[in-house]
Amino acid sequence: LITYGGMTNILNDITIRQLDESESIPYTLLLDADPSMEAIDRYLHSSEIYVGLLADKIIATFVLHQNDKDTLEIKNIAVEEKFQNKGIGKLLLNYASQMAAGKSVTRLVIGTSNASIAQLYLYQNAGFEITGIKHNFFLDNYPEPIFENSIQCKHMIMLTKQL
Ligand code: ACO
Repeated sequence: LITYGGMTNILNDITIRQLDESESIPYTLLLDADPSMEAIDRYLHSSEIYVGLLADKIIATFVLHQNDKDTLEIKNIAVEEKFQNKGIGKLLLNYASQMAAGKSVTRLVIGTSNASIAQLYLYQNAGFEITGIKHNFFLDNYPEPIFENSIQCKHMIMLTKQL
């Protein structure tokens, strides 16, 4: 265990790997990032699921989907609530960037809602730039209104990291 100034750094104890086919899909985490099980199931079968483990327990996940020969998309990323804001999200984004670079795609994209302030902060800080808006995406694709930070999720903000 490596410590900094007496503080234990949890990031040193996180392992990231692909989910094995024999393991159950971490739906509770996936549903945190995307409230529609139907939407999740649409991209899951053609995606790779990665998990972050702490002491052999899955506490985080992200899902990579190849959109076209040049583009990978992070379709879903989630960290268990009690482990949020400790840098694990950033660690997963960096890992995903390395995975993507190794697959010889030229860009990694990620989408989040107009209301997702912390996510927009995190993704731009990790090297993603806003490259598009899918207008009314959440109004058109989700049956119930979704709110974050008291703002209605209406549009999907697409961000791109050039690799
Ligand atoms: N406003 C601005 N910044 C904020 C706010 C806020 N309200 N809340 C947190 N932050 C900052 C933190 O200070 C931190 O920045 P810092 O590193 O400069 O201190 C950063 O946001 C969070 O970074 P991490 O700790 O690396 O992120 P975390 O481990 O919490 O993971 C994640 C981020 C995945 C979004 C996690 O919070 C989560 O699972 N949320 C619920 C599910 C979700 O919304 N997933 C993303 C949906 S979009 C998609 O899946 C493609």
